[in-house]
Amino acid sequence: MKLIIINGPNLNLLGKRETAIYGNETFKDYFSKLQFKYTEIELEYFQSNIEGELIDKIQAVGFDYDGIILNAAAYTHTSVAIGDVVKAIETPVIEVHISNTFAREEFRHHSYVSTGAKGVILGFGLQSYDLAIQSFL
Ligand code: DQA
Repeated sequence: MKLIIINGPNLNLLGKRETAIYGNETFKDYFSKLQFKYTEIELEYFQSNIEGELIDKIQAVGFDYDGIILNAAAYTHTSVAIGDVVKAIETPVIEVHISNTFAREEFRHHSYVSTGAKGVILGFGLQSYDLAIQSFL
């Protein structure tokens, strides 16, 4: 089983970004824990702050991998192009968010990713990623 976590803009700052919302842990540390927990899964990680790089990566893995766990971050709410690529590929995509976007500003309530996603997990902190992995088991 080959899964990839793809994180969008500003998620490279996890651990020091708005810690009241996103917590104190870096994604690097959390990802190591996931790799340790799921040794039977080939688990990869990619992060970019650039919309086109995220689209290139989703295209590159989107016909061979077993699953994509996508936190498109702010692009979730703005990017028709990321919504389109999620629909264009064959690999199932689980949309994740660390925070409960529905409990936040109105502009975070809409997602261009959700219509093409197999499922959506949000609001469980970094554990949202773990729950998304479990959905593939
Ligand atoms: C986020 C929620 C988005 O609204 C925000 O722009 C992010 C992170 C989350 O994981 O909670 O950057 O996707």
